[in-house]
Amino acid sequence: MNDSVYGDNRPDLLDLGDMPQFGVVPKNMHAFAVRQDRFGEPKDAWRREVLPVPEIGPKDVLVYVMASGINYNNVWAALGYPVDVIADRQKKGEPEDFHAGGSDASGIVWAVGSQVDDVKPGDEVVVHSGWWEPDDPWVLAGKDPMLASTTRIWGYQTNYGSYCQFAKAQSHQIQTKPKHLTWEESGCYMLCASTAYRMLMGWAPHTVEDGDAVLVWGAAGGLGAMALQIVSALGGKPVAVISDEDKRQFCLDKGAAGVINRKDFDHWGVMPDTQSKEWVDWMKGARSFGKAIWDCLGERKNPRIVFEHPGEMTLPTSAFVCDLGGMTVICAGTTGYNVTMDLRYHWMMQKRFQGSHLANDEQATAVNELVIAGKVDPCLSGTFSFDEIGHAHQLMHENKHPYGNMACLVNATEKGQGAS
Ligand SMILES: NC(=O)c1ccc[n+]([C@@H]2O[C@H](COP(=O)([O-])OP(=O)(O)OC[C@H]3O[C@@H](n4cnc5c(N)ncnc54)[C@H](OP(=O)(O)O)[C@@H]3O)[C@@H](O)[C@H]2O)c1
Repeated sequence: MNDSVYGDNRPDLLDLGDMPQFGVVPKNMHAFAVRQDRFGEPKDAWRREVLPVPEIGPKDVLVYVMASGINYNNVWAALGYPVDVIADRQKKGEPEDFHAGGSDASGIVWAVGSQVDDVKPGDEVVVHSGWWEPDDPWVLAGKDPMLASTTRIWGYQTNYGSYCQFAKAQSHQIQTKPKHLTWEESGCYMLCASTAYRMLMGWAPHTVEDGDAVLVWGAAGGLGAMALQIVSALGGKPVAVISDEDKRQFCLDKGAAGVINRKDFDHWGVMPDTQSKEWVDWMKGARSFGKAIWDCLGERKNPRIVFEHPGEMTLPTSAFVCDLGGMTVICAGTTGYNVTMDLRYHWMMQKRFQGSHLANDEQATAVNELVIAGKVDPCLSGTFSFDEIGHAHQLMHENKHPYGNMACLVNATEKGQGAS
């Protein structure tokens, strides 16, 4: 008896790039996955496997993945740190003992659940990675779903993401693929772009306004490259931070008003005791970094928004240089979680320290419209083959990856396809 939503007479497995007739879904698929017994260096932890194609629920869609983006979250998944995503899901009752991840995808909608009426098979799409239980009371009440207790990051905290030949997503995650972009360009940007958009536009009244100075850490990275362009598109003046002069021109090309090389300073890390001599030296470093921002802007202007993600190494400086009444907004702690700041500047200058995580549907749509309008470029930095998924994560883990956002081909057989 057939108990699959995909019917019977299904082929067992298709080669990558082998496109069946619409509605035909094989029983198994090629995928890249992590298992607990190989947690560690991403190049070894990520391995190609054949896995069953997941069944979809009434509000889900199945996407025939053409290309996938590489994100830092699946470096963490490979390491099994700070969260073992497999154990975490098993605690919630999910049976799978693997993590088939991937949080950015471009592809073609292949099958839809019985209650899906806003997307249809054949639609060319990108997937944004905000996932939540559709019947979460918070979501049903019309509140920001990113603050719902059921929210997860698709392809990191959920299984069957974009490193799968067929990915399982919820219909609300689906966004229109920009027609002018190739599959790999379309597949590489959404997670970073939507996260950057929420950080910059989601925390009123601290949203980017005309002429605002915005300090952008890791400006040639995935998040940073998106932030530079979003700030520019909204009339702000982004100041970029890099660690390598080779990245300078890239940042200027993406709209930076000026670029600071953090290697010119050495006051990084946990802030010393404010009574110590080391703190006096630290303060000199922080002040000279602030002066470098003014030099970039050509005026004594402090950033109204500081776009943070390195965390421990940079946060004390971010909190110091942030303007009177400004906001430091942070979505990660790549360099560590033990955060310090000089509270005196924080309260006296009435600054805001705001956490931010991914994006809701409206924010994903808003940034996708900037991409569709050509105001934000995905900054595709390199396209890898399906079998290089582990290698691409390893480069990211070692901060040796090319600037911008990386992609891997999945069912797309060659680079450069999919644009019209
Ligand atoms: N919460 C969310 O929703 C969300 C979404 C996306 C990403 N993230 C997280 O955000 C972080 C960055 O992601 P990404 O995609 O932009 O990664 P990425 O492409 O690797 O960029 C990170 C940048 O950080 C900079 N950096 C590295 N070490 C640093 C240090 N010690 N001090 C200052 N800057 C340093 C590097 O630039 P330079 O060496 O040139 O300075 C690097 O280019 C990751 O931890 C990721 O997991 C979170």
